[in-house]
Amino acid sequence: MTHVVTEQCVRCKFTECVTYCPVACFREADTFLVIDPAECIDCGNCVEACPADAIYPEGELTPELLPALEWNARLAARLPLATTHIEPLHDGEAWNGEPGKWHALPPEQAPRAPCA
Ligand code: F3S
Repeated sequence: MTHVVTEQCVRCKFTECVTYCPVACFREADTFLVIDPAECIDCGNCVEACPADAIYPEGELTPELLPALEWNARLAARLPLATTHIEPLHDGEAWNGEPGKWHALPPEQAPRAPCA
């Protein structure tokens, strides 16, 4: 099992999560982070740390969030490690809680499974 970053991270990228991860499992894209499922030890420390409520245990993903499972695994394999807290995106607060953020991603960064 793994924890999974979901749509709500997109365009927020608050990065509080990385400071709570004991195994450095976060990987960084320009507008979001993902979790490498091969590294995650399922501690759950990052869940409460995220101001966007973007992180879920794999077993608690709703049908709308299930595309995130493949999304994290595929992108984590090619993104660099994220180990430090950085300033959030300049408009990150404005995007916090907005629906439909999967659709703000370019095709190469979007989940392959159909998204709600
Ligand atoms: Fe994203 Fe939340 Fe981390 S917005 S970068 S999962 S603290």
